[in-house]
Amino acid sequence: MAGEVEISQVLLYARDLKAQYDATRAREQDLRAAYGRLKASYQQSLRYARELASVYGRLQRAFLQSLLGLANALEAKDPYTRGHSERVARLARRLALRIGCEPSESLVIAQAGLLHDLGKIGIPEAVLRKPGPLTENEWKLMREHPVVGARIVSPLEFFTEGALIIRHHHERQDGSGYPAGLLGEAIPLGARVVAVADVYDALTSDRPYRRGLSRGEALCWIQDSAGRLLDARVVSAFLALVADGCPDSPV
Ligand SMILES: [Fe+2]
Repeated sequence: MAGEVEISQVLLYARDLKAQYDATRAREQDLRAAYGRLKASYQQSLRYARELASVYGRLQRAFLQSLLGLANALEAKDPYTRGHSERVARLARRLALRIGCEPSESLVIAQAGLLHDLGKIGIPEAVLRKPGPLTENEWKLMREHPVVGARIVSPLEFFTEGALIIRHHHERQDGSGYPAGLLGEAIPLGARVVAVADVYDALTSDRPYRRGLSRGEALCWIQDSAGRLLDARVVSAFLALVADGCPDSPV
């Protein structure tokens, strides 16, 4: 009799164990299913994040394209500056490559060259096209264009280097430039490159108040400014490009 009782207790115990085992297994399966759902939603979030980043990048690039179009349109209105930024961009890119910049860096320098005077958008045409010397106030307004231009492109996160170039393209080696009066190598390299291209194109272009210099006169002016106003290494690269037929040859 005692043996039968022990057997039935063992059987009860075994049934309990089995029930606990089944319950544990069911919980494990639930957990596995929950983990699977969590993993799937994590992967879905990753996909959304990647798509969002890609859309954001495309939007930023579209914004840059609109700014390039705007810069072009602004310049096209004025026969004296038409094509200036494109020539500056082409020459700046060649100069950048010549001094050993990576192609990607040279591209940013070229894009900054295209946009370097975008900040003139807020300057009245009467000042921009004034056929005589500017007053002190007009100069003050004119000198704001690098900072205004840098501010316009500042929402472009991938273009921070370009914004710096735009901001400092009127700095000069001896600190006499603007807006910050930076000296020598404190001036971002891209800005020193754009400065040489900008100065050469400005010197050789007609303005309402003067005829453009000849190519030879402009080269003398630039050579004379090396190390004083313009970066000597960039000027050397420029003179080497000139010896190769640039900037008049196609890029
Ligand atoms: Fe400028």
